[in-house]
Amino acid sequence: MLKNRSIISIADLAEEDINEIFTQADKMLENLNTGQKMNDMSSKILATLFYEPSTRTRLSFESAMERLGGSVISMADSKTSSTSKGETLADTVRIVESYSDIIVIRHPLEGAALLASKFSSKPVINAGDGSGEHPTQTLIDLYTIRRELGSIDGKTITIIGDLKYGRTVHSLLSALSRYNVTVNLVSPESLALPKHVYNEVKGQLNVNTSSSLEKFLADTDILYVTRIQKERFTDKNEYAKLIGSYKITGREAGMIKRGAIIMHPLPRVDEISPDVDNMKTAKYFKQAYYGVPVRMALISMIAGD
Ligand code: CP
Repeated sequence: MLKNRSIISIADLAEEDINEIFTQADKMLENLNTGQKMNDMSSKILATLFYEPSTRTRLSFESAMERLGGSVISMADSKTSSTSKGETLADTVRIVESYSDIIVIRHPLEGAALLASKFSSKPVINAGDGSGEHPTQTLIDLYTIRRELGSIDGKTITIIGDLKYGRTVHSLLSALSRYNVTVNLVSPESLALPKHVYNEVKGQLNVNTSSSLEKFLADTDILYVTRIQKERFTDKNEYAKLIGSYKITGREAGMIKRGAIIMHPLPRVDEISPDVDNMKTAKYFKQAYYGVPVRMALISMIAGD
C-alpha cells in the first residue's frame, strides 16, 4: 500500500507496488481515452516545488491532479519565491505541507527530496534531485516498455548518453535490476556510469559496456537515449567537447531489431535527429504522454481517500 508514503528512490517501491501502479495507470488511461470524468481527489491539493526547470514532470503532475478533480499550487521558479530571500528548503517545506496534501519536489542537489521528506508530515515525491534519482520517470519508462512491448523480462535494453549525470538512467538501472534483462551501456568515457551505481546493479544484471553503439543495435529491443546534462558541468568547455559525440539518425534507427522501440525521457537537444520522429520505432512522445496516467495512479494511491 502506498497511502501517505513518500517516494524518494525507485527502491522505495516493491515489485507489487509497481505492478499495482501499472494496473491503476491502465484504468486511468482508459478513463482519459473515453473522456470519463474523475473526482477522486476533489478535496485535495498537490503542491509542486520546482527549484530546477521542467516541462514534462511539473506539467504532467499538475495535469494528473487536475484530471483527478484535485487542485494544484505551484512554485515553478524558485527565483520568484522566498527562496531568493534566503529561506531554507526545510522552512519552505514546513510551510507548503500546511497548504497541501502531497508535495512534488525537484531540486539541483542530490538528497534534497529526502531532506524535504524529513520536514514534511505529508508525502513527498522526488521529481529529480540533481544527478541522484528520478523515480517517477522510471515508472513511466517501465510502463512504456510494458505497453509497447508487452513485458520487460527477456528484453535487451541499450542505454546511450550521459550515464554519469543522468538521474533517469540511475533510477532506471536500479529498477531493471529486478527483472531478467540484458543492459548495454554506451557513453563517451568521461560520461560513464558512476561506480556506486554500477556496483549496485552489476551482480543483478547482465551488463555490457562500450563506447560504440553499432555492435549492439541488431540485438536491441529498447534503445534508451539520453541528453548530455549541460547544467551539471562545472567546466563548460568540457561540455562543448562532448556535445554531438553521439546521435541517433534514421540510419541507426533502421539498424535496430525489428519491432524495437526508441525511448528518451526528453528534453532532447540534438541526440535524436528529427527524421526519426515519424518512424514506427520512435516512442518518446508517447512515453511523455504516459506520464499523465502513471502520475494519476501514483497521486491517487498516495493521497486518495
Ligand atoms: N523527463 C523530464 O524529467 O522532463 P522535464 O525536465 O521536462 O520535467
